[in-house]
Amino acid sequence: MMGDTNIITKKVACPHCKNEITVEGLPGETIEIKCPNCNTKGIFAFPVEKPIAESAPGQYAIEVNNIDFTYQKSDKKAVNGVSFGIKKGEIFGFLGPNGAGKTTTQKVIIGLLKGYNGNVKILGKDLESWKTDLYNRIGVGFELPNHYQKLTALENLELFASFYRGKITPPMDLLKMVDLEKDANDRVGTYSKGMKSKLNFARSLLNNPEVWFLDEPTTGLDPVGRRLIKDIILQKRKEGKAIFLTTHNMNDADELCDRVGFIVDGKLTLIESPRELKIRHGKKIVKVEYLEGNELVKKDFDLKSLADNKVFLDLLRSGSIQTIHTAEATLDEIFIKATGRQLK
Ligand SMILES: Nc1ncnc2c1ncn2[C@@H]1O[C@H](COP(=O)(O)OP(=O)(O)OP(=O)(O)O)[C@@H](O)[C@H]1O
Ligand SMILES: [Mg+2]
Repeated sequence: MMGDTNIITKKVACPHCKNEITVEGLPGETIEIKCPNCNTKGIFAFPVEKPIAESAPGQYAIEVNNIDFTYQKSDKKAVNGVSFGIKKGEIFGFLGPNGAGKTTTQKVIIGLLKGYNGNVKILGKDLESWKTDLYNRIGVGFELPNHYQKLTALENLELFASFYRGKITPPMDLLKMVDLEKDANDRVGTYSKGMKSKLNFARSLLNNPEVWFLDEPTTGLDPVGRRLIKDIILQKRKEGKAIFLTTHNMNDADELCDRVGFIVDGKLTLIESPRELKIRHGKKIVKVEYLEGNELVKKDFDLKSLADNKVFLDLLRSGSIQTIHTAEATLDEIFIKATGRQLK
């Protein structure tokens, strides 16, 4: 299995009795260990994996290597040694609690914050070497949209379109795409939160960007709107865009992202595909609910020995099984484990 190659095995000495203990875990993971010899308990943190952007240079539309950023008048790094890469046709989810450094990282990468340390490459070229032509190649859906409230949605998009050089997607096509066609000539000041969010999303696609940054694109949307936006994102991945997606919504991250990275206090602690994470952090059991007479009974079976488990096979043949599923971890649970906090 691909993800298992990331598991690190380490030998550590018990601080009390010096007994050697073998521990296994993921890069950046913190685990509790107990010495089998003297029962002393302790915490062990696995080192963060080698930055992926460094291990395969040139493959990525976005390459971020070891960036640090500190805001003026702050004595704390808002971004601290962050490295990752995003390929064309890939959605990378950037997850983490409030204030973790997600928006700051995005702002550094798109050239809005100067004075960072480290290296950023976009489409193979150092960020420092790009001039304003970078903005013709990237699209940004900002966290806090800034539209002209007195202009209509169509006028807003036409105005922003005029800032680009090169081919523009017709604003009305974009408004149709996000289901705002009939509201196109209404002033943005009269728009609801969800409508503004859709407009912001549409605006980020005006220049048909190769690299696309989205900060909470489904915020404030109803389930239909959320589905629409997610389908567009998936379609754009198929078209080969490299997508940097920041979200607090773990269901969205799970559904959309090829890989996710968890950032906590400015540090990226873990990068992995949602599927591998869920399998690795889940329990290797199958949960079965079946009827015994009129009574519903729940039983767990070991996943690995299922094919030879007589009780399970008898149940399967008996036709009394009501539900059956594996005990995968959810991305919510993994978020809490990886960041050490609840979603806020
Ligand atoms: N303009 C600023 N000046 C000073 N400090 C800032 C500024 N913007 C953000 N910070 C600080 O930098 C840190 C990271 O903030 P950032 O906005 O990147 O977090 P975030 O992960 O995007 O959070 P959220 O999920 O709430 O959007 C926080 O400690 C925040 O207080
Ligand atoms: Mg943010």
